[in-house]
Amino acid sequence: MRRHLATGGIVPDLSGKAAIVTGCASGIGAATVRRLIADGAQVLGTDVNAEAGKVLCDEVGASFVQQDVSDRGRWAEIVTAAVQTFGRLDILVNNAGMVSGASIGDGSDEEMFAAWDQVMAVNLTGTMAGCRAAIASMKDNPGGASGSIINIASTTAITPLPTDVGYSASKAGVRALTKSVATWCAKQGLAIRCNSVIPGATETGILNAAEEVTPGLKAAVAATSPMNRLADPAETAAAIAFLANDECPFMTGADMLVDGGALSIHPGF
Ligand SMILES: NC(=O)c1ccc[n+]([C@@H]2O[C@H](COP(=O)([O-])OP(=O)(O)OC[C@H]3O[C@@H](n4cnc5c(N)ncnc54)[C@H](O)[C@@H]3O)[C@@H](O)[C@H]2O)c1
Repeated sequence: MRRHLATGGIVPDLSGKAAIVTGCASGIGAATVRRLIADGAQVLGTDVNAEAGKVLCDEVGASFVQQDVSDRGRWAEIVTAAVQTFGRLDILVNNAGMVSGASIGDGSDEEMFAAWDQVMAVNLTGTMAGCRAAIASMKDNPGGASGSIINIASTTAITPLPTDVGYSASKAGVRALTKSVATWCAKQGLAIRCNSVIPGATETGILNAAEEVTPGLKAAVAATSPMNRLADPAETAAAIAFLANDECPFMTGADMLVDGGALSIHPGF
C-alpha cells in the first residue's frame, strides 16, 4: 500500500503480483494493462490482434502472447507462459469480448447459430476456460493458493439488448459463472477470489464499431447515465485494479457496476 503523492489517499499496490489481461490491444484491456503496470504488477497481455497488442505491451513494459480466448486448448499454455516468465500467477482479467450484432429474429438459421456460437465461445466459454486454467495455477502459487480473477460482464447482462441476443446472454452467463467460480473456490478453502466488473457504455473500439452501424448510438447510450457521458476505459480499469489487489479479501462473487449510475435511476427520469 502506498500514498498518492497529490491527494494523500491510499493507492492499491500490486508490486510482486503477476497478471494476465486478455483483449489487451484496445479499450478496457489496454487501459487495464496500463493501470496494473502503473500499480507495480508484472503483466502478460494477450489478444487475437497481435500487432496492436504487441505495440501496447512493448510501450508499457508488459509481455505479450497472441491468443484467441475461444481456443480452449491454448489456455494451459498461456498460463504456463505467465508462470514461466513471472514465477507465479496472481491476477487474471478475462476481458476479451465481442458483439454478435444478431437479434433473435435476424437472418437464416445458419447465420444465427454461427453468430451465437461464436459470441458464446469467446465471451462465455473463453472466460470459463480462463478461470479453470488460472485456478489450476493459482492453487500452486509459491506461499500457498491465492489469486484474484476479474471477469468483464456488461450492463446488458441485467438490461439485455433486443438487438444482440447472443451478447446479452453471454454476459449474463459471465455473471453466473463468476458467482459459481467464487463460491466453489471459497468452499474449497482456496484464497482465490472471483468478481465481475459490469461496465456501462465505455468509449472503446466495440462502441465505435457500433456507432458506424448505428449513427447516434454513442450519444444515446451516454444519455442512459445521469452523468450524460460515456466511461473512460481508465475508469473501468480503476475498478479492475481494486478487485485485483488484496484490499478487501472478503469480496468475492460480487458484481461491480461501473455504469455512471445508468442502472440505478428510475426509467421515468
Ligand atoms: N465498451 C463498452 O461500452 C462495454 C460495455 C460493457 C462491457 N464491455 C466489455 O468490455 C470488454 C472489453 O471490450 P472493449 O469495450 O474494450 O472493446 P474493444 O473492442 O476496444 O476491445 C476488445 C479487445 O478484445 C479483443 N478480442 C476480441 N475477440 C477476441 C478473442 N477471441 N480472443 C482474444 N482477444 C479478442 C479485440 O481484439 C480487442 O483488442 C469486452 O468483454 C466487452 O464486452 C464493453
